[in-house]
Amino acid sequence: MNTDLTWTKAKVTRADRWNLLGQSGVVVWLTGLSGSGKSTLAVALDNWLHQHGRHCQILDGDNLRQGLCRGLTFTEADRTENIRRAGEAAKLLAESGLIVICSLISPYAKLRQETKLSCQAAGLTFLEVFVNAPMEVCEQRDPRGLYRKARAGKIHEFTGITSPYELPEHPDLELPTDRLPLEQCLNQLTSLVMKAAKL
Ligand code: ADX
Repeated sequence: MNTDLTWTKAKVTRADRWNLLGQSGVVVWLTGLSGSGKSTLAVALDNWLHQHGRHCQILDGDNLRQGLCRGLTFTEADRTENIRRAGEAAKLLAESGLIVICSLISPYAKLRQETKLSCQAAGLTFLEVFVNAPMEVCEQRDPRGLYRKARAGKIHEFTGITSPYELPEHPDLELPTDRLPLEQCLNQLTSLVMKAAKL
């Protein structure tokens, strides 16, 4: 860390910001394979909360990689940087009172744990949600044809095929999207978030 840096402290406190919005900032972290349903759930949760008068933002891996995380690849080092940036952005947004819905494969357990600890150290609630559809199901869904390309050797380091996905051991919630309809997954997700955001 550069020792020539200082920290500028705002006059407005976290409590001021959260009171103004009437909600607490929370980080909801959706992890799972490509095609498991993370983005679908993120969009549904965001929409539900918005309809119920709550302020949210989605941080979606595919979207971030077209902006904040542009240029990062899928090597372990770049995925690490990708998760670090997403985690830092999530903290800033949650600090201002938003319910931040992060939707990233985030395949490494250690990085998810580090992100969780970093949020908790900042006094923010972090909810890990495992969007759990078996690999075969994700590959069959293959909404963007990426599994097909990966099998054909046209995409390298593809999660689940040529790159690992480490299963969450103690997620706050596990949603088996191959067995539960979207509506039921959403119900479980909204009750968890509503409790955490003290709504
Ligand atoms: S992460 O591993 O760094 O968390 P992230 O969620 O940002 O991944 O991006 C995953 C998205 O990138 C997938 O939804 C998919 O559309 C696309 N993608 C492109 N190449 C790969 C790859 N090699 N492995 C996984 N996803 C890939």
